Amino acid sequence: MLDIAIIGGTGLTSLPNLQLTKREMVHTPYGEPSGPVVYGKIGQKEVVFLPRHGTGHTIPPHKINYRANIWALHSLGVKKVLAIAAVGGIDSRYGPGCLVVPDQLIDYTCSRVSTFFEDDLPHVTHIDFTYPYNDGLRQRIIEACRAVAGLDISSTGVYGATQGPRLETAAEINRLEKEGCTIVGMTGMPEACLARELELEYATCTVVANWAAGRGEGEISMAEIEHTIEQGMDKVKAMLEKLVLML
Ligand code: HPA
Repeated sequence: MLDIAIIGGTGLTSLPNLQLTKREMVHTPYGEPSGPVVYGKIGQKEVVFLPRHGTGHTIPPHKINYRANIWALHSLGVKKVLAIAAVGGIDSRYGPGCLVVPDQLIDYTCSRVSTFFEDDLPHVTHIDFTYPYNDGLRQRIIEACRAVAGLDISSTGVYGATQGPRLETAAEINRLEKEGCTIVGMTGMPEACLARELELEYATCTVVANWAAGRGEGEISMAEIEHTIEQGMDKVKAMLEKLVLML
């Protein structure tokens, strides 16, 4: 039965441990998703994989068609969505290379289409979003990390979702910290609330790619980010292999 989807972020455009069965472009009422979904198996478990930024990593965070991506996965019968994303570390405990499974988020994005509930509605629709991530799925991610020897994971975090594509200023990071954010990324919203609108179980595993602006020495180096993400995604791949078999 197909009920698990993995959305890959920067540094995770394919899954080497996925035995590929087919690729399919899913057409949705909201336009095209980031690319074809890839069907495959990890062990005996069927999963679908969708690279958030496109197969060639060409779609920037503010141009991603989040609605088409989430709709496409829902239309395939997916129930659980594991979202992988690179972030900057704000809290001093979350340095480059750490894995963090956030339990809360604050949305700072703007001008992104962030709901399915806007046209042709018989009545105004609101969703509960008190706890933006599915806790059962979060706990499985944490267990899977612990089951992979040597993987240290932080089991809570507040994800500040920024608009991008530029990184933040040091003052913006100070503000985010004051407001409670411990990590910062550009793709966490509206992905999480769209998944909630379609009643999908959704959780995120983040890889800290860099110290957020003003938290490390000097400016942020893109080469360093790429290097850290590459190493972090090796950990994520090992974690996913265990996790999928636990679901
Ligand atoms: N800020 C926002 N998004 C990010 C960062 C950052 O420092 N690093 C990786 N994604």
